[in-house]
Amino acid sequence: MCGIVGYIGHRDAYPIITNGLKRLEYRGYDSAGIALYNGNGLELFKTKGKVAQLEVISKKRSSNAHIGIGHTRWATHGVPSDINAHPHTSNSGDLVLIHNGIIENYNSLKIALENKGFHFESDTDTEVLVNLIEYVQKTEGHKLGKAVQLALKEVVGAYAIAVIDNKKPNEIVVAKLGSPLAIGIGNDEFFIASDASPFIEYTKNAIYLEDEQMAIIRLEKGLRIRKIKDDSLVSPVIQELHFSLEQIEKGGYDHFMLKEIFEQPKAIKDTYRGRLVGKEGLIKMAGVDDHLDKFLNADRLIIVACGTSWHAGLVAEYIFENLARIPVEVEYASEFRYRNPVISSRDVVIAISQSGETADTLAAIKLAKSHGAFVFGVCNVVGSTIARETNAGSYTHAGPEIGVASTKAFTTQITILTLIALKLGRLKGTLEEKQYIETVRGLEAIPEKVSIALKENDAVEAIAKVYNQAKNCLYLGRGYNFPVALEGALKLKEISYIHAEGYPAAEMKHGPIALIDENMPVIVIATKKGHYDKIVSNIQEIKSRKGKIIAIVSQGDQTVRELADHVIEVPETLECLAPLLTTIPLQLLSYHIAVQLNRNVDQPRNLAKSVTVE
Ligand code: M6R
Repeated sequence: MCGIVGYIGHRDAYPIITNGLKRLEYRGYDSAGIALYNGNGLELFKTKGKVAQLEVISKKRSSNAHIGIGHTRWATHGVPSDINAHPHTSNSGDLVLIHNGIIENYNSLKIALENKGFHFESDTDTEVLVNLIEYVQKTEGHKLGKAVQLALKEVVGAYAIAVIDNKKPNEIVVAKLGSPLAIGIGNDEFFIASDASPFIEYTKNAIYLEDEQMAIIRLEKGLRIRKIKDDSLVSPVIQELHFSLEQIEKGGYDHFMLKEIFEQPKAIKDTYRGRLVGKEGLIKMAGVDDHLDKFLNADRLIIVACGTSWHAGLVAEYIFENLARIPVEVEYASEFRYRNPVISSRDVVIAISQSGETADTLAAIKLAKSHGAFVFGVCNVVGSTIARETNAGSYTHAGPEIGVASTKAFTTQITILTLIALKLGRLKGTLEEKQYIETVRGLEAIPEKVSIALKENDAVEAIAKVYNQAKNCLYLGRGYNFPVALEGALKLKEISYIHAEGYPAAEMKHGPIALIDENMPVIVIATKKGHYDKIVSNIQEIKSRKGKIIAIVSQGDQTVRELADHVIEVPETLECLAPLLTTIPLQLLSYHIAVQLNRNVDQPRNLAKSVTVE
């Protein structure tokens, strides 16, 4: 993980880098640091903690610098500390480097460098890399760019790096393998960052480096991209960015998470906008249309993802099997990649990832491709690695999701997957025309219904007050709402640090029921369509063991209202669309509990938004 930012141009680099780092804190916030070339030499400030702390300790910086690099860290090698914070300096003090990724063979490189007289202050793999570059530079007399290239050939692992040489302070050298790196192109100025958010107010033009590419960026002379392996020149592909500064700011909300929860009506609409066409409800999705034979002839779909995206995949399993009658397997990408899975060229693998950078999902994609499977990506971040590595795909168009806890990513992923299932179901004839149209209309009505569900916000906040001291929580659902229960539990644990478990409601009697007593809040999703009577029985079982019941019910429900301690209503919809509504109160419940416990909602401890390490 980690976020990196760099600047070279005519402006003051400091505010560009520190503001950029704040936008990248979603990638990790264990420590922060900055190196600036001030005209006379390099100034370095770094500290454990967040960018706000870095701003405090860097007040004494000397003057405007027009070149600099900065880093916000998610610790991998070495505890969060001042010493382990980036940028790291080479032994001579000439080179400074920031790094996002992991150098897997750092230990053997370190020993080799120690044998040559190098010493190390930190526990990081990054300090090894900067000294390896220095070693190559000094022993072979190369310029910085060449030294970086040769050093990287010795490295096993993943990296996005930026390096400055104090002796040649008119250039920044960057390189990428596995971790993302975007270069913003301005007028005689360049921005470097892990994603485009740090420079969106300065330029809408960006280059996303590909794996095993490096760029030498020089003041006045511009940039040159080369392949690390064979030194060949690469013609830059400049992409236009389609998001605004406003979209990545909080817009009056206390937290990004709350903003993103409330953005869901628009986000879902943006997801199907332009894809659901005309009165007859045609679904047009270029990524699917161009490869229809793959989908229609698929023996099965294998969905690979992590975390919330995996939960969206579980919902999709129900949807695809019901609407399109295609067998589906949903796999944790991290397990899939290390099993010896049976994959064939008749499988379609769907990789779901908000960030498009998740290392395990990326590795699963590569494995599936190597077995000849057709791989389709469902990503939110445009131009992300997964979006580029897959054979085809569809963007969710949810807009930037900054809060570490995924919210609108989940509902928009389900929206995309529903569109695909509907399209395939219609073409395969597994879906009657009446049901097809009814589901399309149901989907179109979802944004309005999400808005209605969001009106329960105050009621949910009041319920949160009653349970914010709970030590454990159980989430139960059946059918389409079972993955929603898992997702609700994940949301609560990751931002409030309260232990929570999601279960299929009927599984309760096979174990978890033993946990239920008067101190156990049980959140039960009990919407009218789908297994309603069964779930009412489950509620009775909980009640007779004195568990506290918070039920998510369809508007107007009376039966559950009489049994439950609290009810939160959501509008009625088709059974297969229920997760798009039932997840809303669960997001709000986690949010309010976390706020009431004074947790850092947008940046919960130990987590990062993009998990680019395995
Ligand atoms: O970017 P991705 O969708 O690939 O991320 C996968 C998970 O890391 C992510 O969903 C994580 O579980 C969220 N923090 C959950 O809120």
